[in-house]
Amino acid sequence: MKSFHIITFGCQMNEHDSERMTGLLRDQGCALVPGVADADMVILNTCSIREKAEQKFYSELGRLKQLKAERPGMKIAVAGCIAQQEGKNILARAPYVDLIFGPSDVARLPVMVETAFSRRSPVIDTSGDPEYHRKRIPTARVDKVKAWVSIMYGCDNFCTYCVVPYLRGRERSRPSEDIVNEVRELARKGYKEVSLLGQNVNSYGKGLREDTDFSALLRMVNEVPALERIRFVTSHPRDLSDSLIDAVRDLPKVCESLHLPVQSGSDDILRAMNRRYTRMDYLDKVKRLRDAVPEITLTTDIIVGFPGENAQDFEATMQLLEEVRFDGIFAFKYSKRPGTAALKLPGHLPEDIKEERLTKVLALQKKITIQKNKAYTGMYTEVLIDGMSKRGGKLSGRTRGNKVVNFAGPDSLIGSLVFVRITAAGVNSLSGEICE
Ligand code: 5AD
Ligand code: SF4
Repeated sequence: MKSFHIITFGCQMNEHDSERMTGLLRDQGCALVPGVADADMVILNTCSIREKAEQKFYSELGRLKQLKAERPGMKIAVAGCIAQQEGKNILARAPYVDLIFGPSDVARLPVMVETAFSRRSPVIDTSGDPEYHRKRIPTARVDKVKAWVSIMYGCDNFCTYCVVPYLRGRERSRPSEDIVNEVRELARKGYKEVSLLGQNVNSYGKGLREDTDFSALLRMVNEVPALERIRFVTSHPRDLSDSLIDAVRDLPKVCESLHLPVQSGSDDILRAMNRRYTRMDYLDKVKRLRDAVPEITLTTDIIVGFPGENAQDFEATMQLLEEVRFDGIFAFKYSKRPGTAALKLPGHLPEDIKEERLTKVLALQKKITIQKNKAYTGMYTEVLIDGMSKRGGKLSGRTRGNKVVNFAGPDSLIGSLVFVRITAAGVNSLSGEICE
């Protein structure tokens, strides 16, 4: 029996792909082990969204080279976006790698692993399986309460900074029947929450033979018995329809929380990014969302230092943050990605300006997040308990608005919905006490 260990970089999509790799290999009789030290194979599931993610992967690979020198029988596999991007070029830098495969090649993993163990030369397959989105893949889930469910793969948007469309290919939606069946099975097993995953969930259904869209899918998933909560990522603002807003308002299981990446508050930069909405369009959608669902929590992604971003453009982003008052943001310095259109744009900015702008947006948002979190103090809120808090000792869960809440209680409650009174709030989490 072979043992394996997976190191995952990047987004939820990658985390979920690793669960699928684990499921596939376990079905073959392989065993997942908690560390690299006693693994026959180490799989690095990589991310290339920004340069930093890529650097992390290469330094991990360097560490594994040493380990392999001590244990020559060990195999190293590279999966995910860097595998797709670099293919056999990885071997020029790291000739000791044994297996390279892309995100849409995961279903063939058992065969690839067998081949990798039976021959000396590396196995490389990044051809992609055109039927991947129709396959049912065994999944070994890390969490017992919340589950990820892929609803679509790829992205057709071609935002000018982003490598995703080149690496994860064109948009392909899974048939709704497959998705609903997967959710039913999860609910039967006791899962309380599903997060529907896709690069651009709002355009779900495009290209499917059935006549369906994302809000129709939400209505179907909302009918699944015993399921309590539904979340989804990621929404593209341009495709956020009124019917989706209605679905969030009307469907009891769909949580009142939305991640809606704006990227920039400047129309010139949004145009250069090929986002295909304006600042006004975005603000209008936020207003419509809040009119329909007043308690909705909103988070976003921001890129600072995009090529050509001048002081006014940056100020427009700061003002948008003040105006919308998001519950939280993920902010990144623009990072040059191979093959993307933004590489060729004029006005690339020096690192120190990007750094300074990042510090400013983060400081502003920290202030807003604390103010927003403090406003929950004294309120009663429903929490789905999903585990213990990182600092230990306390139960931890999330509100419907996706805020982390820590509070005292027995671990037998993990997996339950409880009501909690919020007693204090910080930037990353709320504290409270269970209502009897
Ligand atoms: N540089 C910086 N941030 C990026 N993102 C995507 N590509 C880049 C890049 N080249 C950010 C976007 C996206 C999030 C997942 O990562 O904000 O929404
Ligand atoms: Fe990248 Fe834009 Fe697609 Fe998101 S929507 S994955 S940022 S191309």
